[in-house]
Amino acid sequence: MKAEFSVNGTRCDIDVEPRRTLADALREDLGLTGTHLGCEHGVCGACTVLVDGEPVRACLMLAVQADGCSVSTVEGLAAEDGTLHPLQEAFCAKHGLQCGFCTPGMLMTALDLLDREPAPGRERIREEMSGNICRCTGYVGVVDAVEAAAQELNPR
Ligand code: FES
Ligand code: FES
Repeated sequence: MKAEFSVNGTRCDIDVEPRRTLADALREDLGLTGTHLGCEHGVCGACTVLVDGEPVRACLMLAVQADGCSVSTVEGLAAEDGTLHPLQEAFCAKHGLQCGFCTPGMLMTALDLLDREPAPGRERIREEMSGNICRCTGYVGVVDAVEAAAQELNPR
């Protein structure tokens, strides 16, 4: 089946089996391997991308369901000249990542949170990030990073 959607502002046309997930289409058909696959059944959050601005588990969504949508992945976060997004900078500075496998999903979830709530408290950040599992850092650095990025993006 054919599907046409935009990824990080670029139009993409793919021809895939109806059962192909959006995660597989992004990684294997479009070469955007920043979106990671962990559990592949909606539990870990590693595959989180934004579809029409909403966070979505790309392992649970079919590629054809994205037809006509606007998809944002971690590859779209940095500026064209390579300058990292404040969230990416903060994850580095605050030790929000270790192996980094969970980080793309964390970043996209945090991006959605800060879009809706410019100044979330730490408990709120914990609550919103609770669907993203990290197996190696613990979460203090992640919360620190999201808090720091919020201050950077929306100074009070
Ligand atoms: S790979 Fe999609 S939620 Fe784990
Ligand atoms: S940094 Fe390794 S799983 Fe999160």
